[in-house]
Amino acid sequence: MRTASERRELLKAVYQQARGCVACPLHETRTNVVFGSGNADAELMFVGEAPGANEDLQGLPFVGQAGKLLEKLLAEIGMERGDVFICNTLKCRPPGNRNPFPHELEACRQFLYSQLELIEPTMICTLGNFATKLLRGEPVGISRIHGQPEVRTIGPRTVRLYPIYHPAAALYTPSMVETLRTDFLRIPELLALGPPVQPETAAIPEPAPVAEPERAAAAEPTPPSTPEPPDAEQLGLF
Ligand code: URA
Repeated sequence: MRTASERRELLKAVYQQARGCVACPLHETRTNVVFGSGNADAELMFVGEAPGANEDLQGLPFVGQAGKLLEKLLAEIGMERGDVFICNTLKCRPPGNRNPFPHELEACRQFLYSQLELIEPTMICTLGNFATKLLRGEPVGISRIHGQPEVRTIGPRTVRLYPIYHPAAALYTPSMVETLRTDFLRIPELLALGPPVQPETAAIPEPAPVAEPERAAAAEPTPPSTPEPPDAEQLGLF
């Protein structure tokens, strides 16, 4: 069993790795790596798609309008950002907010899996299509399966996976906000179910290895393009 402070230190080490990552071309256009923020001991993790312009500038996830809606919905179920961990499938912004490419998702997956392994959430809410398809490993779209919880083994963890609409998609569609709200309202009852049974240690699937040249590149840190604040602050760790 890890202590809370060991968990934080390990998470910061993965963040440092991510800051130096050059495994896909997104490193060329990023301002900051948006690793994720929130409670390192959270039971509930939200996984969005990718950082947008505000997130890229601040180095923190969901700090724009979609983030405000996420915070509002969290408040309605008696929670706040400090209770959960929020991150994305991609840690770097795709230029012009285009959709993530498969090779980018693949290159970045190791960081998400490390976050899962270290934070050990009991439940993951995937926000929208990209996170849902990536973590379920199936092409079924969010409009078909939002609000349907299931127990899934994702990389190193077995969790309650709960796909819901992406708050950015709901921003300008009042009916979708209502659907998102309805799905959100079930979160407390799902959390109350507690952790699902974990697989035997020996059966934990390893994340797919990153191709050799990419791994070498990923391990080689590059100096950050802009001065960044200290780890804990930048990580927004609670
Ligand atoms: N949309 C996302 O998917 N993630 C963010 O961090 C912000 C907007």
